[in-house]
Amino acid sequence: MNNKNSFIIDSPLDMHLHLRDDDMLKLVAPLTSKYFSAALVMPNIIPPITTKEALLSYKQRIKEACKNDSFSPQLTIFFQTDYSYEFLKDIKDEIIAVKLYPFGVTTNSETGVASMDVDILRPVLESMEKLEIPLCVHGETKGFIMDREKEFLPIYESLAINFPKLKIIMEHISSEESITLLEKYDNLYATITVHHLMLTLDDVLGGMLNPHTFCKPVVKKPTDKEALRKLALCAHEKVMFGSDSAPHQKEAKECHDGAAGVFTSPIALQVLTQLFEENGKLENLNAFVSLNAQKIYNLIPTKKQIELIKEDFRVPQSYQYKNEEVVPLFAEQTLSWSIKSVKDKDDY
Ligand code: DOR
Ligand code: ZN
Repeated sequence: MNNKNSFIIDSPLDMHLHLRDDDMLKLVAPLTSKYFSAALVMPNIIPPITTKEALLSYKQRIKEACKNDSFSPQLTIFFQTDYSYEFLKDIKDEIIAVKLYPFGVTTNSETGVASMDVDILRPVLESMEKLEIPLCVHGETKGFIMDREKEFLPIYESLAINFPKLKIIMEHISSEESITLLEKYDNLYATITVHHLMLTLDDVLGGMLNPHTFCKPVVKKPTDKEALRKLALCAHEKVMFGSDSAPHQKEAKECHDGAAGVFTSPIALQVLTQLFEENGKLENLNAFVSLNAQKIYNLIPTKKQIELIKEDFRVPQSYQYKNEEVVPLFAEQTLSWSIKSVKDKDDY
C-alpha cells in the first residue's frame, strides 16, 4: 500500500553496478541482490571480462555470492576493437551490453580503447548495431577534471550520428551539457547515480577532504546537480537509475592515491525515496528505478516488491566480510526512509 508513510517499489533495477570479485564480491553482491530484481554488472574486474569463458565463470561466481536471492545479474563485456561479428553473435545471449572505457580514464581501464576515432571503432560498432547489442560508455576525456565529460560530448555526438541504430547509453551523466545532447539524438540514453543527484564538489573538497565521495566522473556544480535532479524526478523516458556503486577497500580510499568510486548499494533505494518524496514526485520513482530501464533494454525482471517506510535508517559506519571493509556514502548519517520488507514473487 502506498500512503505518505509507506511506498512500494516494484522490481528495482540498478543499471550500472560494480560487483568486483572474490571476498569483495561476497560482501557486496547480497547488498544488491536482496533489494534489486536485476543489475547491469560492469566488466572492469581484474583482468577485465573479454572472453565468453571469463564471462560465464564470473556470472557463476556472482550467482553463488547472491545465494538464494531472486536476482538476475545482467553481464557486460569490456569493449575491445578486435571483437569479431562471430564472437559477438556467440556471446549475445549472455550479455546485456558492451561497456566501452577510453584508455586510463578510470579504475581498471588500462586496457580501454586508445583512440575514440569512429573509423577505428566502426567494425565492432557496426556488428553491435546489426546484432542489436547496446553500447554503454564511460564518457570522459583526460582533460581538466571538471571538463572531461563536456569534452567527450562531440564523441558521443559522432557515435550517435554514425551508428543511428545503436543504442548508446551515456553512463553516469554528471553535467548539464550532457542533458542537452541526450535530448538531441533518439539513440542516446543515460544512467544517473545517487551520488550525482545528492552531492556537489563541495561535498568532496569544499570543507575537509572526503575520499568516500570521490568518483569518476567527479560530482560537479550545484547547477549540474539541479539539472540532473530535474531529469530524474520527472523520470524522463531516456534516463534510468544506475548506481555506479563502486566499492573499494576502506584503506584504498583513505590514503594517498585514493581510489575513485562511491559505494551506495545499501542506501540507494532509501535515498532515492527520500529525494522523490521531498520533491513531491514519488509517483515517478518506479519509472526511474525500473520501468524506463525495462523499456530501454527490453528487460523483463523477476517480480520483487520492496516496501519502504518513513522511519529513520542509521547508515552503518562500514560493511565488512573477512578482510574486506567498505564505507558507504552517508556512513553514520540518518536517512528518513528505511526498507521494511522484501517480497519475492512467491510471496504475493
Ligand atoms: O568512480 C568510479 N569508480 N568511476 C568509474 O567509472 C569506475 C568505478 C570503479 O570501478 O571503481
Ligand atoms: Zn562504473
